[in-house]
Amino acid sequence: MLNKLSGLMAAFVVFANIGGVQGQTKSVPDQPTFARDIAPILQRSCQNCHRPGNIGPMSLLTFQDVRPWARAIKQQVTQRNMPPWYISRTVGIQDFKSDPSLSDKEIALISRWVDNGALMGDERDLPPPRQFEDNDRWHIGEPDIVVKLKKEVLVKAKAPDYWADLDLEDFGLKTDRYIQAIEVKPIKGVKAVHHAVAQSRLEDEQGNLQQGLLEEYAVGKFGDIYAADTGRLIKAGTQGYVNVHLHATGEDTTVQIALGIKLYPSEFLPKHIENVQHVGDNEDLDIPPNTKNIRADGYTTLLKPARITAFQPHLHNRGQAQCLELIFPPQVSGGRSPKETASCVDRYHFNWHIVYHYAEDQQPIVPAGTVLHVTSWFDNTSGNKYNPDPTNPIAFGQRSIDDMSFAWLSWYYLSDDEYKQMLTERQEKSKKLSASR
Ligand code: HEC
Repeated sequence: MLNKLSGLMAAFVVFANIGGVQGQTKSVPDQPTFARDIAPILQRSCQNCHRPGNIGPMSLLTFQDVRPWARAIKQQVTQRNMPPWYISRTVGIQDFKSDPSLSDKEIALISRWVDNGALMGDERDLPPPRQFEDNDRWHIGEPDIVVKLKKEVLVKAKAPDYWADLDLEDFGLKTDRYIQAIEVKPIKGVKAVHHAVAQSRLEDEQGNLQQGLLEEYAVGKFGDIYAADTGRLIKAGTQGYVNVHLHATGEDTTVQIALGIKLYPSEFLPKHIENVQHVGDNEDLDIPPNTKNIRADGYTTLLKPARITAFQPHLHNRGQAQCLELIFPPQVSGGRSPKETASCVDRYHFNWHIVYHYAEDQQPIVPAGTVLHVTSWFDNTSGNKYNPDPTNPIAFGQRSIDDMSFAWLSWYYLSDDEYKQMLTERQEKSKKLSASR
C-alpha cells in the first residue's frame, strides 16, 4: 500500500505555501510599533512558552527582551515555524478550540515592523502585561486520582535531548469508571519538558497489551473537561506511563510529572463515551534512503454515526505531512460530497506533539460506515532537520528512528436520531450564515 505519488504531493506542496501574505499588507499600518501592534500578538501567541522558567529559549515579555530577536522572529513567523501549529491553512477545518497561530495580517505586521527598524513606538500604547495561570494548580478541579512518575528525572545542565516512556505510579482502579476531566503537567522542571503525553496500558482478557492515549501536556493548555454527559472509560487495573521529550536547559533540572483524573460517580453512565484511538494504521512502511514525498495510506471504518472532536498525526523522525480524509458511504452521501478532507498537517514537526481540538461547530458529524483515510508522507533526506541519518532505509517500528503512520483520533458515537438531529442543526446554521452574508 505504499507508493510514490509525486503528482499528488506536488499539489500538496502548493497549498503548503504561505499564500495571501502579500494581499494582506494593504491594511497593515506603514509604521507598526512594538507598543501598539506587536506586543498584543506576542502576548497571545508566544509568551506562554517564551517567558522565564518556560520552554522557549528566550523571553519575549518586554521590548528589551524582544528587540535582539527581531530578525529571528521575522524568519520564524514568516516560515510559520512559530508558534508551533502546523495545520494547513488552505485545506480542511480551520476553527479549533485554541489556536495560537498567526493570521496573514499579523505576519505582515511583524515583517514590516522588523523591516522598518523594529521600533518601540509610544509606550503609552502598551497593553497591560499578560497574567499567567499557575502550573501547580489543577485546572480541572480537584482530581480523584493523582499519579506521578515513579522516579523523578534529573536532566543534566548539558545533555542531549532525551525521549523515553516513564512509568506512572499505580492508578489503584478497582472497577471500571468514566473520566469526566483529565490533566497532565510537569510539576517540577517545567522548562525542561518539551512534551509529555500520558498513555494507558492494560492487559485485556486475552492477555494482549492494550495501549491508549490519555492526555497530552501542551504549554498553555490546562487539561480536558469533557462536555456535560460525556466521558471516557477507564478500566479497572489500568496503568500508565508518560512519553516525554526532555531538553537540557543549561542548569541541572529535576523533572516530575503528574496526571490528575476526575471521575464520574461510580454508578454513572455518561450518555456519550469519548474514544481516543489509532486510526488509519499502516505498518507496511518502506522508506528508501535520500528520498522524500514517500506516501503511505491507511483506512479505518466507523461502524456507527459519530462526532469527531480531535486529531493528532503520529509519525516519527521522517514524518513530513499527514492528511485525514473522510469517505462517506455512497447510500448516505446524498447532498454531501462523497468525501471531505477534515485536516492536513502540511509540515509535520517531529519535535511537537500537538493535539488539534476542533471547535464545537466544526467537529465532523459523520454517518455509519464512514472510512477514515489517513495519508502520511515521509522525508528521508538531509533536508529534514529531525532526520538522524538519511542514508538508512526505514521501516515500521517502535523506536523513534523507525517510523510509524497513523492518527490519534477522538470521537464519540451517536444514535441514528442524534446523528440526524445534529446534522440538520448544522445544515440550518450554515444556511442562515450564508443567507446573512
Ligand atoms: C509552545 C511553545 C512555544 C510557542 C507558543 C512559541 N514558541 Fe518560539 N520556540 C519554542 C521553543 C521550544 C523553541 C526552541 C526551538 C524548538 O524547540 O523548536 C523556540 C524557538 C523560537 C525562535 C528561535 C530562537 C533561536 O534560538 O533562534 C524564535 C525566534 C521564536 N521561537 C519565536 C517565537 C514567536 C515570535 C512566537 C509567537 C509568534 C513563538 N516563538 C511561540 C517554543 C514556543
